[in-house]
Amino acid sequence: MTLRKTVIRGTGFAVPSNIVTNDDLSKTVDTSDEWIRTRTGIEERRIAPPETGNSDLAIEAARKALDRAGLSAEDIDLIIVSTITPDMVSPATACLVQNALGAKHAATFDLEAACSGFIYALSVARQYIATGEYNHVLVVASEVLSRITDWSDRSTCVLFGDGAGAAVLSGTDEGESDFVSFFLGGNGKYADILNMPAGGSRKPASHETVDAREHTMKMNGPEVFKAAVMKMNHSMRQVLTRAGLQSSDVDIVIPHQANLRIIESLRKYLDLPEDKVYVNLQKYGNTSAASIAIALAELVESGRLVRGQLVGMCTFGGGLTWAACLLRY
Ligand code: ACO
Repeated sequence: MTLRKTVIRGTGFAVPSNIVTNDDLSKTVDTSDEWIRTRTGIEERRIAPPETGNSDLAIEAARKALDRAGLSAEDIDLIIVSTITPDMVSPATACLVQNALGAKHAATFDLEAACSGFIYALSVARQYIATGEYNHVLVVASEVLSRITDWSDRSTCVLFGDGAGAAVLSGTDEGESDFVSFFLGGNGKYADILNMPAGGSRKPASHETVDAREHTMKMNGPEVFKAAVMKMNHSMRQVLTRAGLQSSDVDIVIPHQANLRIIESLRKYLDLPEDKVYVNLQKYGNTSAASIAIALAELVESGRLVRGQLVGMCTFGGGLTWAACLLRY
C-alpha cells in the first residue's frame, strides 16, 4: 500500500486579549516577577474572561487555519480537538467546533494526552491521511487552563495560560511536504506527579472536593522537570534516528513551552544553537496541548518557517506522556 503524503496546509492561533503579568500575580500570591522570570522564563500569560469557553478559542484558531488553508469547513473530513479543559465532559469539544464552523461532513472526537496532545493528534490525523481514509483533517489544540488552576498555589498558578492553535492537514501527491517521523510515549506509573484529582467518575464533584481544591492541577514540579528534560531529549533522538538524521539537519525545533530552563537543558543535550529553538513562553506561559500549536502558527505567520524546512517538535505532559515528530514543512 502506498502511503499518501501529508501537508500542513494552514495554521492559526487565538489567545485571549487579557494579559496577566508576573507583577499582577505578585499582588495575589507570595511571588515576584524576579522569581518567575528566573525560574521559568515566563513574563506574562493570557487569561480568558469568564464568558469564554474552550470552544470559543478553538473555533477562532480553526477559522484562521481554514482560511489560510484556502478550504471551507465543508471540506473537512475529521476534526480532532486535543485538550484537558473541554467545554464539558460530554459532548466532545470537537462536536461544538464542528457545529460552529458548519463542518457538516466531519467526524469529531477529542483526544486527551495533556501537553503532548497536539503531537498525538497530529500523528492520528496523519494516519488517516496517509492511508487515504480522509483527505482534510482539522487538528485543534485548545486550553483554558485558568479554570483548573489553583490561584492560591504559587508553585503552579504562575506557570499556566490560556490559548488555542489549529492546523489543517491535507493529503498531497505533490511537493516534498510530509511528516518524516513520529515517536509517542507514556507511563501511567507517574500519573500522580501531575494531575487533577477530582471531577471524574472516581471522585465526582462534591462539597468536599471543591473545599479541598481538588478540581485544580496538582504537580510535583521538580519531578516533572526531571522527566520533561529526559523524555523530550529521548523523543527527539528517536525521531532523528528513525529518519536517519542528526539534530544539525533540523532548521527549527519547537519544544513544549513549559519552562525556559527545561528548554535550555534540552537545547544543550541536542547541541542546538539558540536561534534554532523557538521560545514564546515569555508571552503565554504553559498552555498545555495548545503550546506547540500556537508556536507553529506563530512561526508560519511571522515567515520564520517556510516550505521545505525541517521542523522538530517535542513535548511532555501529564500522564506522563511524551512525544516528538519531524515535519518537512
Ligand atoms: N514564587 C516564589 N517562590 C516559589 C514559587 C513562586 N511562584 N513557587 C515555588 N516557590 C518556592 C518553593 O516554595 C520553594 O521554597 P522552599 O525552598 O522554601 O520550600 C522554592 O521556591 C523552590 O521550589 P522548587 O519547586 O524546588 O522550585 P524549582 O526551581 O523546581 O521551580 C518549577 C519550580 C518552576 C515549578 C519547576 O519545578 C518546573 O518548572 N517544573 C516543571 C513544571 C512543568 O513543566 N509543568 C508542566 C507540565 S505540563 C502539563 O501537563 C500541564
